[in-house]
Amino acid sequence: MNQKTWNTILLVITAYLVLFALLIAGWQRNKQQLAAETVDSRLDYLMAEANVEPIDLNLPTNPEKIELGRLLFFDKELSGNRDISCATCHHPTLASADARALSVGTGSRGGLGKLRILGDDRLDIPRNAPEIFNRGSVAWRTMFWDGRVAAETYVLDTPADELLPAGLDSALAAQAMFPVTSRDEMRGIEGDVDIHGSLNNIALRDDSDLTQTWADLTDRLMKIEGYQTLFRAAYPSETTFGFEHAANAIAAFEVAAFSFEDSPYDRYVAGEIDALDEQQKAGATLFFGKAGCASCHNGPLLTDQEFYNIGIPQLGPGKVNEDGYDFGRMLETGRQSDRFAFRTPPLRNVALTGPYMHNGAYATLEGAVRHHLDVHTALESYDLMQLEETLRDSCKMDERTMRMLSKNLAEAVETPIELTDTEVEQVIAFLHALTSPSAADLTHLVPDSVPSGLPVED
Ligand code: HEC
Ligand code: HEC
Repeated sequence: MNQKTWNTILLVITAYLVLFALLIAGWQRNKQQLAAETVDSRLDYLMAEANVEPIDLNLPTNPEKIELGRLLFFDKELSGNRDISCATCHHPTLASADARALSVGTGSRGGLGKLRILGDDRLDIPRNAPEIFNRGSVAWRTMFWDGRVAAETYVLDTPADELLPAGLDSALAAQAMFPVTSRDEMRGIEGDVDIHGSLNNIALRDDSDLTQTWADLTDRLMKIEGYQTLFRAAYPSETTFGFEHAANAIAAFEVAAFSFEDSPYDRYVAGEIDALDEQQKAGATLFFGKAGCASCHNGPLLTDQEFYNIGIPQLGPGKVNEDGYDFGRMLETGRQSDRFAFRTPPLRNVALTGPYMHNGAYATLEGAVRHHLDVHTALESYDLMQLEETLRDSCKMDERTMRMLSKNLAEAVETPIELTDTEVEQVIAFLHALTSPSAADLTHLVPDSVPSGLPVED
């Protein structure tokens, strides 16, 4: 071959190499672009599958009703002993909850949250006080960890059955009828004296006499001039008032005060594609994808409002059970398959609302997330030290309890889900993207004073 032929061959080879390099570069760029596009389009697909929609806050519009509700929410006059208000356990500065594993009710002492000290002759409330964010959304059908207050198509199904007065606005309003009737939370026990040293007259009625308990409380409120004015302003067309009017106003306040849709997640759902960063998007892809979270935490509220046993360690005094168990949903349905089942919690603002689970068994978000990934190991290696000292002894770690807990585990958590540490971090980063900046500081909700004149602070 002569020089010219060699030159031609070299030229052809170089041309091919250059072409090849260009192709590779183009392909790489395309791949990157595609990857960026696919995270969002894949999330779009996964979130559609999980029925994710923007939340419908359904904000109340009657300012007089909201203001009445606000003052009632903070007024200890609603408790038999005049020593505890709704806000004690659902405080604005504690993300609408109380930052405790288990709540502490009437007859107890001292400060807010972890500073509260259980009264000598009292028991812990068996369950964790849930956050109450976004409860006005029409998508809410159930209240409480066991769903014992529920809004069916046309009726409210509650523990009061036919005693529940007519005219309640929602399941949330129906819920507000009950803390005041609970002896441990707000009503007190027969023989209690209130903070002024007078006999607690709200505790005197029989437990089944809900109607009279509500009437006694309403009378108590109506003796206060400030409330007469406030009730009339909130309900200008009414002449007589029952506790249902108080409950509707409290619900209006709860919704007005604790509803937010400005979390990065909510902005992303609304179409703001840059609202989540890469790590959060990776976490969301796991949450709605291979980690399987969205088989239960789905829809506009991130809960299917169904009930599952996910094997949370049993602790606390238990609920209506001699052995100190809390069987959860089973107490409502009587079905063995509902033993230890609790309602899937919604997750907005979850980074602010620890401790987690129906009894606060997990102090950290990481603990709560990791529990789902390998329930059996989590149960076996459960760390008691994360509990407040007073609760550690109450935690049941014996063989029998472990067997009972593992028996009817929800299918979705029965077999371990393998995530790397990086992936767990991504899921947690996603959960942090559910925090509304507006929920961070809610001190402005606390009134300076309430109509009863009782102290507002705890
Ligand atoms: C002693 C603490 C305490 C007090 C006081 C209290 N709560 Fe609660 N609240 C709880 C606990 C604990 C639960 C969960 C109980 C359960 O699920 O069985 C709860 C549940 C709720 C729920 C249900 C949320 C959901 O989605 O399941 C709402 C709403 C609520 N409380 C509002 C109120 C209102 C309104 C008042 C005042 C009338 C009030 N609470 C007084 C501790 C308290
Ligand atoms: C089988 C349904 C189901 C699946 C799947 C599921 N969860 Fe849960 N989740 C629940 C239930 C039920 C609870 C409450 C259990 C209890 O208190 O006993 C809960 C509690 C939580 C809590 C605590 C919230 C609070 O307010 O206390 C977090 C956080 C959480 N889940 C995140 C996740 C993540 C992340 C995944 C995926 C890795 C996931 N969940 C998968 C049903 C589920």
